[in-house]
Amino acid sequence: MINRRQHLLALAAATTLAAGTAQAQSDTVKVGVILPMTGPSASTGRQIDAAIKLWMAQSGGKAGGKKVEVIVKDDAGVADTTRRLAQELVVNDKVVALAGFGLTPLALATAPIATQSKTPMVVMAAATSAITEASPFILRTSFTLPQAAVGIAEWAPKNGIKKVVSLVTDYGPGNDAEKYFTERFILNGGTVMEKLRTPLRGADFAPVLQKVRDAKPDALFVFLPSGQGAQFMKQFGERGLDKAGIRLIATGDVTDDDQLNDMGDVALGVVNSHHYSAAHPSAANKKFVADFQAANKFRPNFMAVGGYDGIRLIFRGLDTTKGAGGEALLNAMKGQIFESPRGQILIDAQSREIVQDIYIRKVERKDGQLWNIEFDVQKAVKDPGKLK
Ligand code: DHB
Repeated sequence: MINRRQHLLALAAATTLAAGTAQAQSDTVKVGVILPMTGPSASTGRQIDAAIKLWMAQSGGKAGGKKVEVIVKDDAGVADTTRRLAQELVVNDKVVALAGFGLTPLALATAPIATQSKTPMVVMAAATSAITEASPFILRTSFTLPQAAVGIAEWAPKNGIKKVVSLVTDYGPGNDAEKYFTERFILNGGTVMEKLRTPLRGADFAPVLQKVRDAKPDALFVFLPSGQGAQFMKQFGERGLDKAGIRLIATGDVTDDDQLNDMGDVALGVVNSHHYSAAHPSAANKKFVADFQAANKFRPNFMAVGGYDGIRLIFRGLDTTKGAGGEALLNAMKGQIFESPRGQILIDAQSREIVQDIYIRKVERKDGQLWNIEFDVQKAVKDPGKLK
């Protein structure tokens, strides 16, 4: 005798199986991309969307012998919306993979759906270390804040910076940036005078910048998410911190290539660490930037590269699985190594986390434009957040 519950379970299993077979037999596979196309993080969505479109044009939109249809949905940066859209993409559209995720809370809200539905989830933007531990189906092609922050914490004490104030946005990636920057800076003999935070939404930098002026550190260390750098830099200049001899050091999120060119002289000389600069001098990057700029009126930033590599990772996985999704696709994406516009990258098979070079860069003017010019590199950096 089977009871009603067992019957329903069997029915659900049969339906899933049928859907899986239909999917495997169809000529088209779907990938669901959820991005903030509107709202305060719209630049992240715009960059990643443009990069995916570039990849689709370059690859002919085919992988594993199938046509790949990319469905882009706008979550406006609201986690409840991200989760609902992910659910719909999995249940109604039967996507083989979920991708995008412009902010940490959006990725974390979706993790349980990836786990329950066994759908691989490629994080192209969000960068809190713990995200890849939220589901065994998550892989990442962006970066982690511990990766980025340790680079500048190594450089600063060797270059006359002994006393700093830190300033971060008060949520996951800011916590990581503050923790990993200050720990490494102190280990290298530096002193952290004060740790300041601003809210994710509606940040006004004037009050914290006044505190920094009063504290008179050698430098201010800053992490802010993509999109906030220009406003911060303007207020830093207006308050005269640069003229007061307070240097600015940062993760490259602040000197974001999306906004850098409009920041003006105040940005010149800012030393920062990150995984991607549009000025990275490789042949692969020169082609990427040229093709991207031919199709768009803006420069690619680190978000664009996370999107470009993320869709490439999914395509490569689909090539191996001949278009199948689920655990087969997850396994096919683990351990991938390829040359990104940023340099060589690896998706570590065990942690599903990206391993990449971290560059130390200085903002300079070249041919009338501002760029993050790389002058030093840490090779093949694993996420320091996973080593504890
Ligand atoms: C995150 C968002 C960003 O725009 C960024 O530059 C770094 C991290 C995040 O929410 O994880």
